[in-house]
Amino acid sequence: MAHCCINPSILSADFANLQSELHKIRTADAVHVDVMDNHFVPNLSLGLPVVQRLQEVSPIPLDAHLMIEHADRWAPAYADAGLASVTFHAEASIAPVKLARELRARGAKAGIALRPGSAVEPFLDMLGELDMILIMTVEPGFGGQEFLDLTLAKIRRARAAIDASGLDVKLQVDGGITEKTIQRAAEAGADVFVAGSAVYGADDPAEAIARLRAAGRRPEQ
Ligand code: DX5
Ligand code: ZN
Repeated sequence: MAHCCINPSILSADFANLQSELHKIRTADAVHVDVMDNHFVPNLSLGLPVVQRLQEVSPIPLDAHLMIEHADRWAPAYADAGLASVTFHAEASIAPVKLARELRARGAKAGIALRPGSAVEPFLDMLGELDMILIMTVEPGFGGQEFLDLTLAKIRRARAAIDASGLDVKLQVDGGITEKTIQRAAEAGADVFVAGSAVYGADDPAEAIARLRAAGRRPEQ
């Protein structure tokens, strides 16, 4: 069985109690931190000062998803904050190869994210510069949206390219992941699953994580 990572999104957590919300998901592989600037997406969440404190108190690694414009300028500071992984949007970066190298040089894993309408092919030549591709399975901006099946073909193409490269690049999906949809994404080739409302909307987040992990197991190809 391929390893299945579940990264709950704190976008669906209680923002007045972030530390205790982190402890509710300590059995997860990492915590997905959605940074939004109200420009790249029509929503505003949290920024660097809050992320720095989350990094200090979190029992599990931080996986930042930067939904911000001018990623080349702002993303490196998240790596400097000590985060395990920093993902920027392809649509918001002028020089993605340079930025990925900067993130790695600062000790973070480098990820590139794609909106549902953005093709993965232009970025396949830079797989060697990346630790993760994030395929958005909803339009970014809000939790609680419905999974877009039209993204499955792109997940399959990205999986084929990663396997053909022989490189260790994770394939993350984000948006509308539930116990029902996770299997489709896993079968298409995803191996890291972000889930916001499916975890924090559950009565028992730890149980929700365990159920998603079981449902997202993908047989070895
Ligand atoms: C959406 C964010 C997601 C969001 C997922 O723009 O990037 O991480 O929190 O929430 P759910 O799992 O509820 O779709
Ligand atoms: Zn996200």
